[in-house]
Amino acid sequence: MARRKKIYEGKAKALYEGPEPGTLVQYFKDDATAFNAEKKSVIEGKGVLNNRLSEFFMTGLSNIGIPTHFIKRLNMREQLIRQCEIIPLEVIVRNFAAGSMAKRLGLEEGVQLPRPIIEFSYKDDALGDPLVPEEYIIAFGWASQQELDDVIALGLRVNDYLSGVMYGVGIKLIDFKIEIGRIWEGDFMRLVVADEISPDSCRLWDVESGKKLDKDVFRHDIGSLTDAYSEVAHRLGVLPSNGKIDANITQIN
Ligand code: TMP
Ligand code: ASP
Repeated sequence: MARRKKIYEGKAKALYEGPEPGTLVQYFKDDATAFNAEKKSVIEGKGVLNNRLSEFFMTGLSNIGIPTHFIKRLNMREQLIRQCEIIPLEVIVRNFAAGSMAKRLGLEEGVQLPRPIIEFSYKDDALGDPLVPEEYIIAFGWASQQELDDVIALGLRVNDYLSGVMYGVGIKLIDFKIEIGRIWEGDFMRLVVADEISPDSCRLWDVESGKKLDKDVFRHDIGSLTDAYSEVAHRLGVLPSNGKIDANITQIN
């Protein structure tokens, strides 16, 4: 059987040619990395959970009128997406101090910020995804001023949606990262939320206990990552009814 063409392989996902022009298949791996891949592991079932969770969040965004690259989930580890041109930025939205911001400013983790704060990192693994000011983004042409304004507006809408959904199940959205892509429809271009939205790319704390339910569990070795992600999936009603993830199912098709 002819193997379909792999377009790209990243740290946690791979992209394959899709069934129609303008589509791709996004495959969620079990690989976990942190600190720019200095720390690596394979965590059975992570890809299955993130595929489900990203489907849930992308569908929710689409339901409230925020365009995304997501078309449909194909199986346990794969989803069909629209091909887009990724703007080479990590768009980070923060509600509470944590991670690199807490470190940079000497803030205690969990301190509420005066308002949601957006920051951008330039996507370049060799450079360690450096934080960049808006001035760089415009001057180097990574995005136009209009696009950047639209990206900020999108980031804030995604933040409102995700904060509300998470708070509804007793989880505080500390911060998250999204990536934005361009899709052309004839002469018109629009921006869509791309990549993934999952506990790999968010900080999620239990409202009551402050327990971490995101990739910090892996970054700092503070428990089982699949337990944490399963907890998020359970609370959102995303996990299959028997509550177990069969990590061995890779692709059907
Ligand atoms: P940071 O505090 O380490 O800068 O991370 C901010 C948010 O971005 C946090 O929710 C984790 C997420 N993130 C990624 O999704 N990918 C990355 O490579 C990094 C560094 C952070
Ligand atoms: N995603 C980054 C890495 O693979 C960093 C992180 O999430 O902590 O290393």
